[in-house]
Amino acid sequence: MIVRTAQEFGDNPVEVRETGHYTEEYVPSFVEKWDSLIDWKKRSEGEGNFFIDLLRKWGVRSVLDVATGTGFHSIRLTAAGFETVSADGSADMLARAFANGTQRGGHVLRVVQADWRWLSRDVYGKFDAIVCLGNSFTHLFAERDRRKALAEFYAMLKHDGILVLDQRNYDAMLDDGYTSNHRHYYCGEDVVVEPEYVDAGLCRMRYHFSDDSTYYLNMYPLRKDYTRTLMSDAGFQRIETYGDFQHTYRGNQPDFFVHVAEKEYRTEGEGQFRGAYGRVSDY
Ligand SMILES: C[S@@+](CC[C@H](N)C(=O)[O-])C[C@H]1O[C@@H](n2cnc3c(N)ncnc32)[C@H](O)[C@@H]1O
Repeated sequence: MIVRTAQEFGDNPVEVRETGHYTEEYVPSFVEKWDSLIDWKKRSEGEGNFFIDLLRKWGVRSVLDVATGTGFHSIRLTAAGFETVSADGSADMLARAFANGTQRGGHVLRVVQADWRWLSRDVYGKFDAIVCLGNSFTHLFAERDRRKALAEFYAMLKHDGILVLDQRNYDAMLDDGYTSNHRHYYCGEDVVVEPEYVDAGLCRMRYHFSDDSTYYLNMYPLRKDYTRTLMSDAGFQRIETYGDFQHTYRGNQPDFFVHVAEKEYRTEGEGQFRGAYGRVSDY
């Protein structure tokens, strides 16, 4: 088994545009730093109960977290009473998530190592909701992989399940340059997060920590409407997009978008609402 201690991007890092490369980017030393990057306390304050309230509104009980990372959402959802399964393609991330679960509230996470492209092969069951959070879907570089991952998510939802998937506001980055109000996702104070390079097919982010260590992630800059179209193409019936956890947002201003995609097929004339409080989709 190869254990990678340092990230490897080769001679020309901006040419690294492969879906499977994420496994080489989340090396153990970067995984160890992830919690100081996201700063759990500030991140909790930034997003509040947005996801918990949303899932409750939809009457969700079972959740598959497909991008568990170090467990931030899996642990919050488990603590809130959801039956949660925690998947990720990175074994190091899952090990950290499991340890965080026991250390932060004594939660024993049910973890499964699974790449989204083979999700239904490796994870058992069907779920009321799938969450893919923390700007994770951006790791898929080939459109074929994005379509395959969404098809797997769709297949693993119950007939009336929802997919909750977020992404950085790449439209703003591609059109206007990078800004971040730093409040919602990467909240840590001892890290500077910046794009090192951006073009239509790559956003290479740099994470520089106060101990002078530097890490990178190569990601595909998803335009918001493109993501919505892919979800629709995968079979999702209605898609609602929030900006920075707000229902209404203006233009390019949010740092992050959250898409909520419904699987349930309804004939015309059937009710528009399902959530306990009701909701109309905008797509
Ligand atoms: C940016 S991190 C986000 C982690 C966590 N959701 C958070 O918000 O802190 C992206 C996560 O997605 C996982 N990931 C990326 N591509 C994947 C794939 N194709 N299949 C499974 N997991 C993947 C990575 O291993 C990593 O843990």
